[in-house]
Amino acid sequence: MDQEKELFGGPDTESIAEQALGEAEQAADSRALYEVKMKFLGRMGIVIALMKKMREIAPEERPAFGKRVNALRARLEQAFDKMEARIRAREMAARLAREQLDVTMPGRHGRAGALHPVTRVKNQLIDIFSGMGFEIYEGPEIESDYYNFTALNTPDDHPARDMQDTFYITDHILLRTQTSAGQIRVMEQKKPPIKILSPGRVFRSDDDATHSPMFHQMEGLVVDRGITLCDLKGMLDEFARTMFSATSKTRLRPSYFPFTEPSVEVDVSCASCGGKGCSLCKGTGWIEVLGAGMVNRRVLENCGIDPDVYTGFAFGMGIERIAMLKYGINNIKLLTENDTRFLEQFRD
Ligand code: DAH
Repeated sequence: MDQEKELFGGPDTESIAEQALGEAEQAADSRALYEVKMKFLGRMGIVIALMKKMREIAPEERPAFGKRVNALRARLEQAFDKMEARIRAREMAARLAREQLDVTMPGRHGRAGALHPVTRVKNQLIDIFSGMGFEIYEGPEIESDYYNFTALNTPDDHPARDMQDTFYITDHILLRTQTSAGQIRVMEQKKPPIKILSPGRVFRSDDDATHSPMFHQMEGLVVDRGITLCDLKGMLDEFARTMFSATSKTRLRPSYFPFTEPSVEVDVSCASCGGKGCSLCKGTGWIEVLGAGMVNRRVLENCGIDPDVYTGFAFGMGIERIAMLKYGINNIKLLTENDTRFLEQFRD
């Protein structure tokens, strides 16, 4: 070795090998190892530099020198390959451990949304009534008191205005308290035969377990020649059977609304006890579901429809109320709190 050093004035191949293998041992990962490899075996590396020195030495000594350098290169290549295989195996094991996937774990399910009970009931009402030939009309939520009250035979000082606690925006503009306002808009635009269904939000200054300041109504209006209360009754029976149960019945009780004459309140036989009487129907066997009646002549006249030629019936129901009855919900607030634990129960 010493002799070699003397001869070429550079480090001997043995100490180059030791240095290379020592540095390679220190390499923490395959990237660091690659750098060591390039330092010794790369195109600009130490071993190639040694080869280039060949020219500087005496011709008779070149074969022995060349042999030693080749042996060094082969030895380093072999050692680097082995180390590389070892490091790669270690890195792969670490990566597999990091990315481990336990296929026996229970999966995480995406939670699918579901329709809100009010939307479900609204859709079902639309299904029932459009099957009977009703068309949908949606009126504005901000109304004038003319459409919401006056034209519905409820003039300024009429006591019936007190039946609904109204949110006024100005003296004459308000948040509609009833979808009945849409009846006037329809009858102004369209002449009989009329058969419309009008769903929408309504607003009243009212707040307890069964009343909410905003709720939904479904209004119906039929105007044509020869319409009678019997038509209303038949249609309501069909509605009750589809919405509640195949054996549901309806009964009409006299009532008062300014825009209908006669006016009725409509009860449906209690679907919970089948009419025998239970806590839901407070022992009566009947549950009130909507208001209705024959359209008051005054209302037809207000809309330019001749009450001697045409008659009509109208009805209006609270969608929340129907949903509460149908699903046994005891507090209207549940319908606006958006608690997914509650809402998730309404799936097909
Ligand atoms: N608008 C009434 C209310 O909100 C409900 C109603 C009663 C609507 C009788 C009607 C009807 O169309 O004929 O209390």
